[in-house]
Amino acid sequence: MIPSVLPTYNRAPLSFVKGEGSWLIEADGRRFLDMGAGIAVNALGHANSDLIEALTEQAGKLWHTSNLYQIPEQQALADKLVDATFADTVFFTNSGTESCELAVKMARKYFYEKGEPERIGIIAFEGAFHGRSHAAIAAAGSEKMVKGFGPVLPGFTQVAWGDHDGLHAAIDETTAAILIEPVQGEGGIRPLPDQCLKGLRDLCDEKGILLILDEVQCGMGRTGKLFAHEWAGVDPDIMMVAKGIGGGFPLGAVLATEDAASGMTAGTHGSTYGGNPLACAVGARVMDIVSDPDFLQSVNEKAGRLRQGLEGLVASHPKVFDHVRGSGLMLGLKCKVPAADVVGAAYDAQMITVPAADDVVRLLPPLNLSDDEVTEALARLETAAVQIETSQDS
Ligand SMILES: Cc1ncc(COP(=O)(O)O)c(C=O)c1O
Repeated sequence: MIPSVLPTYNRAPLSFVKGEGSWLIEADGRRFLDMGAGIAVNALGHANSDLIEALTEQAGKLWHTSNLYQIPEQQALADKLVDATFADTVFFTNSGTESCELAVKMARKYFYEKGEPERIGIIAFEGAFHGRSHAAIAAAGSEKMVKGFGPVLPGFTQVAWGDHDGLHAAIDETTAAILIEPVQGEGGIRPLPDQCLKGLRDLCDEKGILLILDEVQCGMGRTGKLFAHEWAGVDPDIMMVAKGIGGGFPLGAVLATEDAASGMTAGTHGSTYGGNPLACAVGARVMDIVSDPDFLQSVNEKAGRLRQGLEGLVASHPKVFDHVRGSGLMLGLKCKVPAADVVGAAYDAQMITVPAADDVVRLLPPLNLSDDEVTEALARLETAAVQIETSQDS
């Protein structure tokens, strides 16, 4: 009999009933160190007092009106995002997938309005993950994502990660945009080198196409800058955001330049819930905290300590781990054993990690975890590695 919850997830036998900062408490009372943060969502940990205050204050005033009216909380968050980034304008969504939908629509509409309606092509990359809608799975393009779901939405091509010649060859007179994650998340924590992102920007300028960055997982302070592309010193035309921006409350956004957004006039797009007062009140508080340079500095310091510790762990467990990769507090441990084994052993050590493709175990902790929690995470990973080595020897 089919479970009452549609079984599209292979769920671990863990059910958490409470969260406190970087800790999750299981129904049986066990405390787990949360180095996954809901896959980079709980940017400020669980039950953060600032976010509770922002949410409950708004909850007592007004939950929902409609995008038919002005929404002051939405306006305030849009202003903060515009002030802090390349963007001139913001549309709020409820998820990363929804942000992907709009990013693709915006790029196509841009060229349609410029008199080049044939430019519908979106070039994406193998190993990418942009969500689960038809546009998002067409962008990822893998058989695993698209098989069985009918005709794949036309206009998407994939280039192998790092294949410069393939990328050049894929661009033609029907190309509208290049879509890329500055650090691939689901694909196995693969950071795009700064010079490649600069190269992509130059290529887009040279060919007159748009650069869309998917910062759903790597944005909002995760890499130690507010947005990951800032490390390369170049700006996109359109950027997808979600996950961390709501700190656990469902919220996403598409940020764009005035030019890139020029086709999106009244009536061309909408969302019932996108940018609702509750989400935006929380998002504004997240933004205030995460965009503070001192906060970002602390992310970089903790990331440095965690990375150094992980390098040590790799050196002392060469049969389990291969290397560390990633950026800031978006780190991946490339494993020599199945990533699921390491994630399972970490569960036994009462720590949450997240598997990714290419046998990589992801560490995406709350950005405000303490130094002691960094130390504790390394100790628990050590315990997990020893457990795997013991089972290898027996
Ligand atoms: C880079 C990236 N883009 C898009 C998405 C889709 O976001 P959502 O699950 O909120 O729809 C994800 C989710 O993991 C992601 O990591």
